[in-house]
Amino acid sequence: MHPVVSPQTPRRILVTSALPYANGQIHLGHMLEYIQTDIWARFQRLTGNECYFICASDAHGTPIMLKAEQDGIEPIKLIEKIRMEHMRDFGEFLISFDNFHSTHSEENRQYSELIYNRLKDKGHISRRMIRQLYDTEKQMFLPDRFVKGTCPFCGAEDQYGDNCEACGNTYSPIDLINPRSVMSGSTPVERHSEQLFFKLEDFRQFLADWLDSGHTQKEIANKQRELLNEELLEWDISRNAPYWGFEIPDEKDKYFYVWLDAPIGYLASFRNYCDRHKLDFDEFLKPDSKCEVYHFIGKDIARFHTLFWPAELHGADFRTPTAVWAHGFLTVNGQKMSKSRGTFITAETYLEHLNPEYLRYYFAGKLDDSIDDLDLNLDDFKVRVNTDLVGKLINIASRCAGFITRVFDGQLSEQLPDPRMFEEFAKASEAIATAYESRQYSKVTRLIMQLADRTNQYIDNEKPWVLVKEDETRKQVQGICTQGLNQFRQMMVYAKPILPNIAAGTEAFLDIETLVWQDAGTPLLDHRIKPFKPLMTRIEDRQIDRVIEDSRESDIETPAISSEFEPLAEEIGIDDFSRIDLRVARIINAEQVDGSDKLLRLQVDLGDSTRTIFSGIKSAYQPESLVGRLTVIVANLAPRKMRFGLSEGMVLCAGTGDQELYLLEPDSGARPGMRIT
Ligand code: 2FM
Ligand code: ZN
Repeated sequence: MHPVVSPQTPRRILVTSALPYANGQIHLGHMLEYIQTDIWARFQRLTGNECYFICASDAHGTPIMLKAEQDGIEPIKLIEKIRMEHMRDFGEFLISFDNFHSTHSEENRQYSELIYNRLKDKGHISRRMIRQLYDTEKQMFLPDRFVKGTCPFCGAEDQYGDNCEACGNTYSPIDLINPRSVMSGSTPVERHSEQLFFKLEDFRQFLADWLDSGHTQKEIANKQRELLNEELLEWDISRNAPYWGFEIPDEKDKYFYVWLDAPIGYLASFRNYCDRHKLDFDEFLKPDSKCEVYHFIGKDIARFHTLFWPAELHGADFRTPTAVWAHGFLTVNGQKMSKSRGTFITAETYLEHLNPEYLRYYFAGKLDDSIDDLDLNLDDFKVRVNTDLVGKLINIASRCAGFITRVFDGQLSEQLPDPRMFEEFAKASEAIATAYESRQYSKVTRLIMQLADRTNQYIDNEKPWVLVKEDETRKQVQGICTQGLNQFRQMMVYAKPILPNIAAGTEAFLDIETLVWQDAGTPLLDHRIKPFKPLMTRIEDRQIDRVIEDSRESDIETPAISSEFEPLAEEIGIDDFSRIDLRVARIINAEQVDGSDKLLRLQVDLGDSTRTIFSGIKSAYQPESLVGRLTVIVANLAPRKMRFGLSEGMVLCAGTGDQELYLLEPDSGARPGMRIT
């Protein structure tokens, strides 16, 4: 028989997903990453490698402190409650963590202090006074995202303290015009305070080499490399009290910034696991370790993982990651997940109505190694699952097992009628394994579906339902169905990382030991199987409808600050209002803007003219979904020169900050050019 994977020494692998914040529910956007990582970890284990999948709650920081305050509970209670909820959701989605710890743990305190002290001893920490905005009502220094005001570059109002969504410039909150605290609405004052910084510049050469050596995707490496063209800014790793986190050793009222101790949480969680399982932690983390370490993350947190994190580890004498793999964002039906559309779907709501393996299969079918965004189109979701997964793959088992049970008392034949086809299926393991290893899961599912098509064709051609009717041909049916079931078993080996429950159901009805990758090379013959039970049912429309309905209704908790609506602006008279000329416009073209994370370039029709408008709505809309829509613009806003061109107006949106954005749309009948009065 064909050797499915060549014998080798098992690799020793530590793999992580990003640590979810302990202040909100897990939603399908999160699940994309956990499913992506889980499939990879399960594949490694299935092929005989030693693979530990580690995660934890990201339990520190201002938003968690404020959420606890808002809920009237201690932060420690909040993070433990949320940790339990997260573990429940992950368990139901079959995420096979070996450990799910917390960054608020003794191990994490120790490693955070150790890494900080080592960096400090080697001179990589500096201190200096900085000016920061202070909310005198809340009596606290304000993080950048907790201040809003007018952009000092382009004059756009209502911009966050770190960068402008209209012109893309970055700045300090101190530079905002008319700043106000998002927390209290009051005008913050400037105060000086001393802060500690990590001197990233000390690691310039190390980082340049690291980024050049294939430790992350090209797009991510290129983006970080741009920063190396200029001096690397020092990274502020301290926060003033009140703060929810670890106090910095030998400092007064200073805490580690959440992003300092969050990635260290990977080490802390693994350490906790090692201690409980008598595993040698240092073997994995020492500088010359032969073990492999992989971090799966979203592209939005690449900087933390591909600049700060490798530099910190290197500076503190730990090994650096073998690779950091980023993925894109999830959209639902072509748009950013939205509560009003019922597409902000929590893991919990999904699981109330749908099987977790539907989503695991669908995501696998769309995932590859790129950082492109991925769309969950709910119509396509139903078709892919019902037609491909259930209709083509799972159906093979029921087509064949029925005959074996009813006619042959559960007994498989002693030989395969077409051993060559079985061999070819065994050979497919190489391409499938390569695709798994390189995170090309869409290729994995494609290859498996090709095998399923061939098997169905084989059964269709052989027509066991005809042969079974005649005494002289009945015996052939046993061979045909044994062939079909053996190929189904091979496909289930290949699909096991994606569909662990269905694989377990297959093991149960075939009455075999746990399937491993090598099993795809040896047929199962002269063996008695158990009566077949359906492994998966089709998705019904009403199940999806319920998910949408329940998501629309559910009062989802979002991080404390972004769920607050803005305080009302100062009163104006009708004259003030009438100076603003609002018009109905039709979006006739929409495209990405090279070099901007926030903006889309829109071409709008105003009835008698067209205009170009740059709008900061990229996070909420796929450009193609906008074309043809009517919306409302400020038509008499003075044209603004932006980095990317001239913007001739402003598109109006409703929103609650950076979490949600909704374009305004007039009722049907309105036409481009109409004035809004
Ligand atoms: O962006 C986030 O959701 C963070 N909680 C991820 C942290 S990953 C790691 F660094 F801890
Ligand atoms: Zn601006």
